[in-house]
Amino acid sequence: MIWNLGSINADHFYSVPRLPGPGETLAATAFRKGLGGKGANMSVAAARAAARVAHIGAVGPDGGWARDLLLEYGVDPAIASVKTPTGHANICIDPAGENNIVLFPGANREISEDQIGQALTEASPGDFLLLQNETNGQAHAARMAKVLGLRVVYAAAPFDLDAVKEVIGHVDLLLLNEVEAAQLIAGTGKPIEEIGVRDVVITLGAEGCKWVSNTRKSQHLAPAYKVTPVDTTGAGDTFTGYLVASLDRGLEMEDALDLAQRAAALMVMRRGTADVIPDLKDIQDHDFSA
Ligand code: RIB
Repeated sequence: MIWNLGSINADHFYSVPRLPGPGETLAATAFRKGLGGKGANMSVAAARAAARVAHIGAVGPDGGWARDLLLEYGVDPAIASVKTPTGHANICIDPAGENNIVLFPGANREISEDQIGQALTEASPGDFLLLQNETNGQAHAARMAKVLGLRVVYAAAPFDLDAVKEVIGHVDLLLLNEVEAAQLIAGTGKPIEEIGVRDVVITLGAEGCKWVSNTRKSQHLAPAYKVTPVDTTGAGDTFTGYLVASLDRGLEMEDALDLAQRAAALMVMRRGTADVIPDLKDIQDHDFSA
């Protein structure tokens, strides 16, 4: 089982002819809304990868729809209602599928230690705790998870060195993209091999991903599947949700990485975030050799 302490956002998508520069006003060519937040995306991805997942998070008085959708998507909601409005994200997407995102964290930063504690007391040793950096309470949850015998996975996004330092001593598997890995190396002055985490996975975009096992003292490179992206938003979250779900279901790391890469490849061919994350049948039905 996966316990995901994660953000829940209303995503507002703006298709733009190019990403706007400083001081620029740009008219969008299309607008859509959906369920998002790195945390919610990961929970939905894990559920679509056939894992049992509980989402620990918070929404405001305007967020009942998000809780209902998570439930509909197969996620157990351990979600508090708080007075602060639900988080939202304004996402600009250019014709190459690249994005930039402005976040309003809102209720995502109002999760109480009591709420985290109550949820995790139902966890069993060997379960996973998944964390990203769009909520409060990460260090508290990571400490408690280790006491309870859970495996802790931290996706260091959006990257913040202090936030990483607060949890890294409790983390079993650290997930970074290339930019985040460079930031971590620069910030700590240590190579990934000396960061003190057993397993580190670094996603490399079109180049695939690299698994650094600091216990085996080995590195494994998994190539990406070649696709033409229309929207890269949420692809990293899909990768993470699938990876953790696959490990939770007992797959070896190499196989889990391959499944996560397939899911992320399908995801970049879709517009949207949580609502459009592929399921296992979508992956099975797709010809990745084409
Ligand atoms: O990673 C994509 C996500 O980042 C979006 O769903 C948005 O809500 C932001 O959290």
